[in-house]
Amino acid sequence: MLDIDNIREEFPITQKSFQVYGSSEPRKLVYLDHGASTHPSRTVLNKYIDFVKNYYSNVHRGKHFLSMISTELFERVYKTIFSFISADKDENAIVLTANTTSALDMTAWFMREVEGITLVSMMEHHSNDLPHRHRSKVLHFGVKPDGTLDMDDLENKLKNNKVKLVAVTGASNVTGFLTDIYRIAKLAHENGARILIDAAQLLAHKQIDVKPNDHPEHIDFLAAAGHKAYAPFGSAFLFGPRDVLDRVQPYVPGGGTVLFVSEDDYIYASSPDRHQGGTPNIAGAIALAESLNCLSEIGMDNVRSHEIELTEYALDRLKEVPEINILGNIPASNRLGVITFNIGKLSNGLVSDILNHEAAIATRNGRFCAHPYLSYLLGRNDSDEIIANLRRGEKFDIGGAVRISFGIFNSLEEVDYVTENLKMIAEHRWKANYGDDTTYFDCKGVQLSAS
Ligand SMILES: Cc1ncc(COP(=O)(O)O)c(C=O)c1O
Repeated sequence: MLDIDNIREEFPITQKSFQVYGSSEPRKLVYLDHGASTHPSRTVLNKYIDFVKNYYSNVHRGKHFLSMISTELFERVYKTIFSFISADKDENAIVLTANTTSALDMTAWFMREVEGITLVSMMEHHSNDLPHRHRSKVLHFGVKPDGTLDMDDLENKLKNNKVKLVAVTGASNVTGFLTDIYRIAKLAHENGARILIDAAQLLAHKQIDVKPNDHPEHIDFLAAAGHKAYAPFGSAFLFGPRDVLDRVQPYVPGGGTVLFVSEDDYIYASSPDRHQGGTPNIAGAIALAESLNCLSEIGMDNVRSHEIELTEYALDRLKEVPEINILGNIPASNRLGVITFNIGKLSNGLVSDILNHEAAIATRNGRFCAHPYLSYLLGRNDSDEIIANLRRGEKFDIGGAVRISFGIFNSLEEVDYVTENLKMIAEHRWKANYGDDTTYFDCKGVQLSAS
C-alpha cells in the first residue's frame, strides 16, 4: 500500500492553491491531469538541480572532472531504463529523444523502407498514427462500442495483408483501456510483423516487461516520455532492436553520430549514438532515470494497486452524477486511472472551466489528440463534414469530453471532491456566468476577453 501523505509531501505541487470564484479563501489545487503531464517529485527536482548546479557539462567529449561525471551519470540513464522495462541491453538499444512523439516517429522512419503496411489501431493518440501515415501505407483496425480493441479485426487484417509493423498504445489516453500487448505481439510475430508499443500512458502506471527478443510475445519497439512519469519536460526514449537500429541511416545525422568523417566519406557509430545527433538533454535524462528509480523503490505493483483503488472508487461515485456519460465500459482492473465523460448536453469546455474556476480542479477537455477514437465513442459520423468545414475556414463544433486522470499522489478524498463538484455542475448550481466557450475568467473569477 502507498503512504499517500508521505507521497504528497514529496510533490511540492500538492501545496499549491488558487483563488477560486465565489470564495474568500484560496483552494488547494486538485490535480487530475496526470494523463497530460505529471509533476516532478522533490527528489527528482533535487537531482536535476544538483546536476545543473554542480556537474553541468557535455558528455563523451571531455577528460575533465565535470565531463567525466556527467558522462558517468548519463550512461547510467540507459542502464536504469533497460532495467525498468526488463530489457536485454546487448540485443537492443535505447535512443533518448525529446518526447514520445519523436520516439514514435523515429520508429516509423526506421521501418519506412521495410516492405509492407503499418497496422494502427483506431484508439491511437495522433502521435502514434500520423507519423506512420507520413512514412508508410497505413491500415487501421477497429475498436468496439465498449471502447476496447477489436481483436478479430486485428487478426483478419494481419492475415490478409503484408503487415510490417503493428502500432498500438499500451494504454489509451482517453478511456485508460489496457491493451493486451503480449497477445498482440504474438499475433504480430506469427504474421511476420514487428510491434511498436506507445507506452506514454503506461510507463509510470504499470510494470512493463518487454521480454527477451526470442520470446514470441516480446515487444520490438517501445516509446515513452519522462513528462508523464514524474520527470521534467523534454526527456523521452525509444527502445528498439539493434538489428533494425544499427542497420538504418541515422535519424538525425550530425555531431556525436559518427566514428570517423573524411572529406568525402563517413562511418556512423552504432546505436544509440547513431541516432542522437547533437547534444542530448543530459539533465532531463538524468532526472528521468531518477524518477524511474523512485518508482521502482515505491514498487510498480503498489502504484498499480493504488490506481485501481482510486479508479474503482471513482467509477462507483461518479454514478451519482446526474446525466453523466462515461466513454467506454471498462472495469478498473483493465484500465488505467483515466476516466472521460460528458454531463448531459453541457459542453466539455464549460465543465472543465467550472471545475477550474470554482473548485481549483485541473482536468483536460476536448478530443485528447485522438479524434477518430472520440468520434467513435461519441457516436459522431460527421468527420468528413468537419474536415470540409475546416478546409473552408469555417468554425465547427467538433465536440469532445472531459477527462480526469489520476497519479500517484491522488487520494480518495479528491475523488469525493470532484464528484461533489460534478454533481453541482450537473444540477446547474455553478456561481459565475461563463457565457460561451470563448469566455474565460482569471484566477480571481474576473471575466477576461477572449484572445
Ligand atoms: C497515448 C499517448 N501517446 C503519445 C502522446 C504524445 O506524447 P508526447 O507529448 O510525449 O510526445 C501522448 C500525450 O498525451 C499520449 O497520451
